[in-house]
Amino acid sequence: MKKFSLICAVLATVTAGFSASAQQKADVKLRESAADGTIIPKEIYGQFSEHLGRCIYDGLWVGKDSEIPNVDGYRLDVFNALKELQVPVMRWPGGCFADDYHWMDGVGPLEQRTKIANNNWGGTLEDNSFGTHEFLNLCEKLGCEPYISGNVGSGTPEELAKWVEYMNSDAPSTVANMRRANGREEPWHVKYLGIGNEAWGCGGNMRPEYYSDLFRRYTTYTRDYKGERLYKIASGASDYDYNWTEVCLNAIGDKMDAIAVHYYSVIDWNDKTAATKFDDEGYYKFLAKALDIEPTIQKHIAIMDRLDPEGKVDLLVDEWGTWWNVEPGTNPGHLYQQSTMRDAMVAALSLNVFQKYTRRIKMANIAQVVNVLQAMVLTKGDQMVLTPTYHVFNMYKVHQDAEFIPVEFDSKPLVWTEKGAVPTLSVSASRKDGAIHVSLVNPSLDQAQKVTLSWETFKSSAKANVSGVILSAKDVHDFNDFGVEPKVCNKEFKNIKKTAKGIEFEMPAASIITLEIK
Ligand code: AHR
Repeated sequence: MKKFSLICAVLATVTAGFSASAQQKADVKLRESAADGTIIPKEIYGQFSEHLGRCIYDGLWVGKDSEIPNVDGYRLDVFNALKELQVPVMRWPGGCFADDYHWMDGVGPLEQRTKIANNNWGGTLEDNSFGTHEFLNLCEKLGCEPYISGNVGSGTPEELAKWVEYMNSDAPSTVANMRRANGREEPWHVKYLGIGNEAWGCGGNMRPEYYSDLFRRYTTYTRDYKGERLYKIASGASDYDYNWTEVCLNAIGDKMDAIAVHYYSVIDWNDKTAATKFDDEGYYKFLAKALDIEPTIQKHIAIMDRLDPEGKVDLLVDEWGTWWNVEPGTNPGHLYQQSTMRDAMVAALSLNVFQKYTRRIKMANIAQVVNVLQAMVLTKGDQMVLTPTYHVFNMYKVHQDAEFIPVEFDSKPLVWTEKGAVPTLSVSASRKDGAIHVSLVNPSLDQAQKVTLSWETFKSSAKANVSGVILSAKDVHDFNDFGVEPKVCNKEFKNIKKTAKGIEFEMPAASIITLEIK
């Protein structure tokens, strides 16, 4: 097996990926004095894993008898890559699969587990060899919080209540004893519980009024057990369905901890276009569509602010990301796609948006972690590649649980597209443990950007240590493929000049930089 290091070679000084036809200038001011203690919850860098295609099988799990190196059945290469990312939370088992999932099918001796057709996703055989124990133990090993998505569409309140009891009860009850008999003495203390998924669609084709009543019913029987208070999440709207948020907030706002929203950067669901083949217009148009998440969440938040002025209910973007046509020759139901530098731009721009709205947004889960949609890693046999999106998450992990710092800069529209504008620059900053981190995105395909960055109260630039990491590619179509040297990976960013008030540097076209000021 050919091995590549998790972080690509770090020593080369980076030069511009594209020939700069002109140069933009930006004056970025960090307003530390305006920071008000708002913490960027680490959960906004969350992941989503569904029984879909090769996300679980071949992705996270190969089984103990596999020739692919594994620990207790978990693929070692994928496990190590995710450990490095410091995944804070992982959602499972779906997605649409969640409302077809019966948890009892996936516990107990392997040979006795129920085999079903995964009817949401290509009819593939699901042998349930990855179930509750396998998922929750994985989260424990990764050090991340599990987020269980419960079955409302085809399940019953009794089934979901017993699942919670199985996972969280330390009583000598029949259900908790079944967990013990299956090899797990201590409860897992699961906190995040989704009451259904996309209840307006694959989760039961419900109206928000009917779903709200079901939420009230299910929530009555999903109880807290010693050591954990459940955090209950209502199945939320599809992107622009503001009525869903309004009706659910009115009907169940006092019963839920959070409501979800799903947002995919798709323009035409009938032709989602190729992941790796696009022209300049296709590049900017999809970045604009990704950025349209900002006004969309602003509108959901405005409804929440009106109906829940005390801010008791959180908003979770528990599915987001790019969704392209599947790679030619792959199962259309498996949603396997490549990931280019364009996907990395979508990831960084979206994370910069989430970091601004953490007053309400407390979690986001990119879809999905392995081999499905905008994945962190892709696998083929015993090989694994880290996608450009992986590197963005790796660069952004410094913002986890850090204090948000407001940033001032003059961002003009760089390009107008049918889906809105793409700005000349996107910036987000935070501070933690005596360091400031700043993440900047230059979306331009052909213009470098000269940035002067200053700060107010932090130590003088003369005394500060400044370092940086950059993600860029020779070509935005570049992606990391199996068996060849990776083309898109993060490298040390070196050309940083100190000025009287801060620093100055040049961002290559189509690049993402995270700086550390200490
Ligand atoms: O992430 C793929 C699918 O997209 C999920 O199963 C579903 O919730 C959404 O429609």
